[in-house]
Amino acid sequence: MMEDLAMHLLEILMNSVKAGAGTLTLKIYDSWLDNVIRMTIIDDGCGMDEEMAKKAADPFTTSRTTRKIGMGLAFMKGLTETCNGSFSLDSEVGKGTTITAEVEKECIDTPPLGDLGEISMETIQANPDIDYTLEYTTDSNHFIFTSMEVRKELDGVSLMEPEILLWIKEYINQGIEQAKEDTL
Ligand SMILES: Nc1ncnc2c1ncn2[C@@H]1O[C@H](COP(=O)(O)OP(=O)(O)OP(=O)(O)O)[C@@H](O)[C@H]1O
Ligand SMILES: [Mg+2]
Repeated sequence: MMEDLAMHLLEILMNSVKAGAGTLTLKIYDSWLDNVIRMTIIDDGCGMDEEMAKKAADPFTTSRTTRKIGMGLAFMKGLTETCNGSFSLDSEVGKGTTITAEVEKECIDTPPLGDLGEISMETIQANPDIDYTLEYTTDSNHFIFTSMEVRKELDGVSLMEPEILLWIKEYINQGIEQAKEDTL
């Protein structure tokens, strides 16, 4: 079910959307030199109190009332352990949450990065008013997408238009491909 890193990231991005984030940033550091993929999600949503933050990444912890399990963070944490990486969660009530997940890039168990354009599109679709930023960094390159810039260009046209959403997805994936090609 969770075949790539992007699917895990989407779960975490959706947590941020649910937490009422107004600003949401996904940073990916994809480095051959450091043999690491570091994924950082920063939101300014409702945050968690100390007790919740401590156990949020344990299996089954949830504040959901509809279904008594919460696995998004636990799965991501487990994956970082399998892939010789690390996981950290930093949160403050009323300020927001930062989650950092690192995996060894060349570890045999590390899944591919997956479709970052797709998960960015889904995040924007979940709440088009969020200021969403994607930063993709390699050893020698950098690609940045911000929904603010697109919103400015569109001059009143909704980000929710299907053509716009698809354009965003393609634009991001092309930018990332370009950054990867120039790195090799
Ligand atoms: N970015 C965040 N801001 C505030 N609270 C969060 C954030 N991410 C997670 N949490 C809290 O941690 C709990 C566990 O998150 P997790 O993603 O593991 O499960 P879930 O979202 O409850 O359920 P599931 O992801 O399985 O639908 C959430 O219910 C929520 O209370
Ligand atoms: Mg979740």
